[in-house]
Amino acid sequence: MNVKSIIFDAYGTLFDVHSVVEKCEEFFPGKGRQISEIWRQKQLEYTWLRSLMGRYEDFWSVTNDSLVFALKSLQLDSDEEIRMSLLNQYLQLNPYPEVPDALEELKIRNLAILSNGSPDMLNTLVENAGLSHLFTAVISVDQLKIYKPFMGVYQLGVAQLGVNREDTLFITSNPWDASGAKTFGFQVAWINRFNNQFDELGVQPDIIIKSLDELKAKIR
Ligand code: LAC
Repeated sequence: MNVKSIIFDAYGTLFDVHSVVEKCEEFFPGKGRQISEIWRQKQLEYTWLRSLMGRYEDFWSVTNDSLVFALKSLQLDSDEEIRMSLLNQYLQLNPYPEVPDALEELKIRNLAILSNGSPDMLNTLVENAGLSHLFTAVISVDQLKIYKPFMGVYQLGVAQLGVNREDTLFITSNPWDASGAKTFGFQVAWINRFNNQFDELGVQPDIIIKSLDELKAKIR
């Protein structure tokens, strides 16, 4: 696999969205995992639904709305202060353990992030994790006001980086995002950390890895 540039998805791929569980547990003991699961699922659904309806709100809003839904659906009372405290966790999600070292090793190429996150969210997240120096660009869908897997979003990635899609490897943990990127014409690595099932959308990733450590051996 010949790769000149690598574009990463952010949430769930480089950063563990379930690092919010601990904070959720502080406010709602015993419910952390459940809140986090519903929160993430609804967050994604809202990005797709808002894109289809042509009613874009940025990822910070969507993440807030999906948190409200998660808490209400579990009949948990919350106030603004609790919700802000949980929402702010999104600015300091943990990178998966192998990520910093693996990125250092891959850095001989162009490395970039292409994410649904709003520019502020992404820049703060990457900076808090101490990873800013590793990326040529951190690209947000916000410029287009529509979410992945809209094809124009992947196009934005190549246009902004000035690269060809065929020479670019797109890496994501989200099967629907991998399917979108493959449809666009990227080479695609699906990072399947937790033995999940790939989607039935008529396309397959070029490679499947369990962590970024496996990548170096697979690309030239
Ligand atoms: C992102 C979401 C899809 O970072 O995880 O774009």
